[in-house]
Amino acid sequence: MIRNDKITPEGTGDLLFLECEAQNAVIGLLREGFEKRGYREVRTPGLEFYDVFSSKAAYYRPESMYKLTDDRGRLMAVRPDSTIPIARMTATKLKGSALPIRIYYAQQVFRRQPELRGKRAEIMQMGIELIGDAAFESDVEILTAAAESLAACSPALFRIELGHVGVFNRLMSLLEAGPEEKERIHGHIAAKNYAALSDVLEGTPQTDVAEMLRALPRLFGGAEALEEARALFRGRDPVLPEMLAYLERIYGVLRGLDLGDRIMIDLGLVNQAEYYSSLAFKGYTDFSGDAVLFGGRYDGLFKDFGEDLPATGFAVHVDALADGRLKRSLAACGAPREPGPGEPGLPPSESKAPAPAVAPQETARLRIALTKGRLEDAVVAMLARAGCDVGLLRDKGRRLLLPIPGTNMEVVLAKAADVITYVEHGVCDVGVVGKDTIAERGGVYYEILDLGVGKCRFALAARADADFYGGFGAKRIATKYPNVASSWFESKGMDVEIIRIEGSVELAPLLGLADGIVDIVETGGTLRENGLTVIEDIRPVSARMIVNVASMKLKKKEIDALAANLQEVRGE
Ligand code: PRP
Repeated sequence: MIRNDKITPEGTGDLLFLECEAQNAVIGLLREGFEKRGYREVRTPGLEFYDVFSSKAAYYRPESMYKLTDDRGRLMAVRPDSTIPIARMTATKLKGSALPIRIYYAQQVFRRQPELRGKRAEIMQMGIELIGDAAFESDVEILTAAAESLAACSPALFRIELGHVGVFNRLMSLLEAGPEEKERIHGHIAAKNYAALSDVLEGTPQTDVAEMLRALPRLFGGAEALEEARALFRGRDPVLPEMLAYLERIYGVLRGLDLGDRIMIDLGLVNQAEYYSSLAFKGYTDFSGDAVLFGGRYDGLFKDFGEDLPATGFAVHVDALADGRLKRSLAACGAPREPGPGEPGLPPSESKAPAPAVAPQETARLRIALTKGRLEDAVVAMLARAGCDVGLLRDKGRRLLLPIPGTNMEVVLAKAADVITYVEHGVCDVGVVGKDTIAERGGVYYEILDLGVGKCRFALAARADADFYGGFGAKRIATKYPNVASSWFESKGMDVEIIRIEGSVELAPLLGLADGIVDIVETGGTLRENGLTVIEDIRPVSARMIVNVASMKLKKKEIDALAANLQEVRGE
């Protein structure tokens, strides 16, 4: 029997000296800021009864929690979140206390993560909750504390984006669409997948609501995003302008606090914890490919615990900030490393002062991961049409990292699946990859442009001389795309056995390993020459521009400019 006695579970790990020191420094800075504002520390147990997290609203998907049973057979959950246990605790232990209550915490949460994606399952979080105060000022207090927290830990570069989940919820309640369509719309808005969102909305009645939803993911940036939203909502709905006015008021106050362009708006901010009810926000820093701070108002949560208390708060990922601190100090020590994407240069030494200093913003560097092979030529040609000097890209030899002279961009050549990995982790800001790989791999990033090149389609194919749908047994399907294939057959209600093949998948039916294949078909030549034929088309495929979520916030100007240039020269 293999004993796992020398390793730690995926998503967890030991912290050695430097990592502990960095975490402690971050915890110290945050604690100082929270206590100065009158917040007092609480701790909730690492194990809770599962029922705490499985209210009517079901804020956490069961599969994202670690579950176990106690000695009486009762189902327990390892804490996946601190806000819900704090609501439980406040509604019971602190019932009747003078309001508002100001609480802070520093404790781990545990969330099951998809395998091998490099995400942490054990996350050290610190956060504050302001409970029992529905006033505008309480949201300002929380947001100011959030900005101060990021400024203290990541003074060189941070951004906070504000959204209002009420806008999305209102539009969805008015949209005439089924639950499955609504779920797809949610996903496409969260991923800023404009093209796919448009496709789904095409299938719904062409109303004002559909038009507003279509525009939602593009409404992000500075004051101009608010302007556009105002114009879009005007005269179309009685409630949306009120929500927008609240957001504008908060934005105005925060801009007045000398936060410069640190504060952004994103009306397409929808993928927050489900308990947020109105204002929602996220924070981003350099050296981290994902949001490091999550917060908002959650006025409905206490009802699950028998109380009716308004509340607002946020959580910061301490380990992400500590990682950033370590990487920044390595860079400052002159380690042989150039500043990475989003790093305008070496950050000033970390100051204890929580004042949100605003560093001048230079033109940030963009690192673009480009899929090697078939797509490469088409995209290099597009860059040339967009006026880039692509000489180095055309004459690259064996080099994999190539600058585009005269620009702030450099190109990384990688395999399709790795393009997604690099973009997800934020080591590349932008990726160009086929929709086939996106559909198979999933992941968290924005998919903002269909480049109109690399066009082909997913199809089910089988031997031309066989009756694929004949007979009773479950069919065997060979494919390089097991996720795409299984979800397509599932949607048809068809039981199949999927066999994963790495390449030249056409061989599988010829050798008798499978009844059919799910693969991409471009010209159809490979199928024809091997005696196979398309049984059904599954979906079209083309190259997409994907963007790391943090880069989209930290380098919006540069990414918008690149997308606009590529849009101009895109294939048809
Ligand atoms: C893809 C696909 C088909 C072929 C289809 O394979 O898996 O085999 O292209 O193109 P066609 O319709 O124009 O003939 P790829 O060339 O990427 O190689 P692989 O199968 O070895 O991965």
